[in-house]
Amino acid sequence: MNIVFATNNPNKLAEVRALLPSEIKVLSLQDINCNEELPENGDTLEDNAAQKAYYVYDNYGFNCFADDSGLEIDALDGRPGVYSARYAGPECLANDNIEKVLQELEDIDNRDACFRTVISLVINGNEVQFEGMIEGQIIPEKWGNEGFGYDPIFLPDGCEKSFAQMSLSEKGEISHRGLAVKKLISFLSR
Ligand code: IMP
Repeated sequence: MNIVFATNNPNKLAEVRALLPSEIKVLSLQDINCNEELPENGDTLEDNAAQKAYYVYDNYGFNCFADDSGLEIDALDGRPGVYSARYAGPECLANDNIEKVLQELEDIDNRDACFRTVISLVINGNEVQFEGMIEGQIIPEKWGNEGFGYDPIFLPDGCEKSFAQMSLSEKGEISHRGLAVKKLISFLSR
């Protein structure tokens, strides 16, 4: 089965390809010559994931899935949440987002947070969504160089390594995206 994963993030593509069985061939946006920005202007992860998946299905005719993910920090009332990518400003880098979060939590004891992913699958014109979530803590300094985004400051509950100290497969086994992808695989394998 061929299916498009609608993301421009090479890290996400690698994480998801590592999880999917060989019967499911994941095409990238480049593989289908889709080079434009995908729409992503909803107020929820659910909306954004659906917008991206429907865009590819409607305009390119491929069955497609897209994910939208965010870091939700309890002491910040769930921020950055759906705005995780550009939390520190429109052109910001991942490190700017990390610095902003660390600054906002500077004098705060409650470091509880979770990562949440929503995957929208649009298959033959019908949509199904899958969710994955992992709880953890925001650590006060960066640990590790792997991964992307907020990985260096997220310590999953029960782990001694941040996401940025894990291999792709270690992270995929427990991560929000990994859990949502497992639900996607079991749906596609029915
Ligand atoms: P997106 O809209 O799903 O691409 O994700 C929004 C932002 O959330 C990303 O740009 C990252 O900053 C952050 N994010 C999503 N997933 C992860 C992850 O697995 N690790 C670290 N940061 C993530």
